[in-house]
Amino acid sequence: MERARITVFDTTLRDGEQSPGCSMTVQEKLRLAPQLEKLGVDVIEAGFPIASDGDFEAVQSISKLVTRPIVAGLARACKPDIERAAQALKNARRSRIHVFLATSDIHLQYKLRMTRQQCLEQARDAVAFAKSFCQDIEFSPEDATRTDPEFLCELLSAVVSAGATTLNIPDTVGYTVPAEFGNLISTIRGKVKGIDKVVISAHCHNDLGVAVANTLAAIAAGARQVECAINGIGERAGNAALEEIVMALKVRADQYPYETGIVTEELYTTSQMLSEITGVAVQPNKAIIGRNAFAHAAGIHQDGMLKNPLTYEIITPKTVGVPDSTLVLGKHSGRHALGQRYEKLGYHFDRRELDEIYRKFLLLADEIKTVHDHHLLELVRDRSKQSSEGDDAKNNQNQPSRKAFPANAKAANALSVNSMAEHHAEQEDHLWGV
Ligand code: KIV
Ligand code: ZN
Repeated sequence: MERARITVFDTTLRDGEQSPGCSMTVQEKLRLAPQLEKLGVDVIEAGFPIASDGDFEAVQSISKLVTRPIVAGLARACKPDIERAAQALKNARRSRIHVFLATSDIHLQYKLRMTRQQCLEQARDAVAFAKSFCQDIEFSPEDATRTDPEFLCELLSAVVSAGATTLNIPDTVGYTVPAEFGNLISTIRGKVKGIDKVVISAHCHNDLGVAVANTLAAIAAGARQVECAINGIGERAGNAALEEIVMALKVRADQYPYETGIVTEELYTTSQMLSEITGVAVQPNKAIIGRNAFAHAAGIHQDGMLKNPLTYEIITPKTVGVPDSTLVLGKHSGRHALGQRYEKLGYHFDRRELDEIYRKFLLLADEIKTVHDHHLLELVRDRSKQSSEGDDAKNNQNQPSRKAFPANAKAANALSVNSMAEHHAEQEDHLWGV
């Protein structure tokens, strides 16, 4: 089946850096931009040139640095902004001026203090002016999802006739929901004059946690460009996360017959680089690239994973550049995962020995939550020490030593009373740890 190509417009360096704590210096942007190119994004929105000299320099330097992606610079719908953007983009092999103007009545009345007619004329004139510098012009009606759809379509028709080549539909305040956003894209497709000559784009914010779902709904309704940011950074609750959109399209290709140019194996490296540059950590349970995205803690899951990763993983870690899945050893783990980790550490236990060490492991896990390799090695050392002490003091042969867990005396005390552990140890892994 022929798959339509979705243009990935990355705004990590513009909308993304507008998120608190994520602003980047010129040098930092210059470090990330080549990685975005390697990742395969189609458009890099490098900054807002009129905003500061630093942003101007960043857009200018990135324009010289990258070769394949289009470099975009943001501009309000006014001459000084557009001139500054055009100047910053002068050296780009492929450039785009991204012009925006708010269109909702709330913004027109309280922020811009202009009428709808004035707004339409300003948008149209700004696009025509931008077109005198660059062929590739994107127009965004800010707060589109709270704009009267009739007026929105009228204004979009005017900017298309003035030369816009991409119509970006921003859900600026993260207010819309998937069905509604899909309908809005369909309405635009049905009513905007000249729509067949231009690309429709979706730009979703995550205030209700549905930015990616909204973006996917927009694609299904006919959008062919997505605006997104690595790690989902951006104003307030962020922008739609690039890695989530791309992997949803890839993993559920049966539902979404589209393709992107993203090299998914570069997702993790890009995410890590951004996090290192900004100093803003990725939440552990973040889809696709969070620390726990490929970590399995429950015994039933670990057992399944060891038998066949397809049981609990819909994406192989390597697909997104994560070195490997991890089985986190804790109180929900089973003997299968424990035995396997010991094998990796060079120890092989028969069933009886594994039962014994597993009981001790559970007591420790109850106390310290995550059991690391050095703890496992300590358990083995204590076990050997116990058996040599046992040889020396035959009378105490079957008594568990109080020194069983030097790492944690409380866990050692629990050894003789924790019947739960005994019970757990007797169960098969696949019955445990849901
Ligand atoms: O969210 C928004 O409306 C924007 C525009 C500038 C596209 O970021
Ligand atoms: Zn935005």
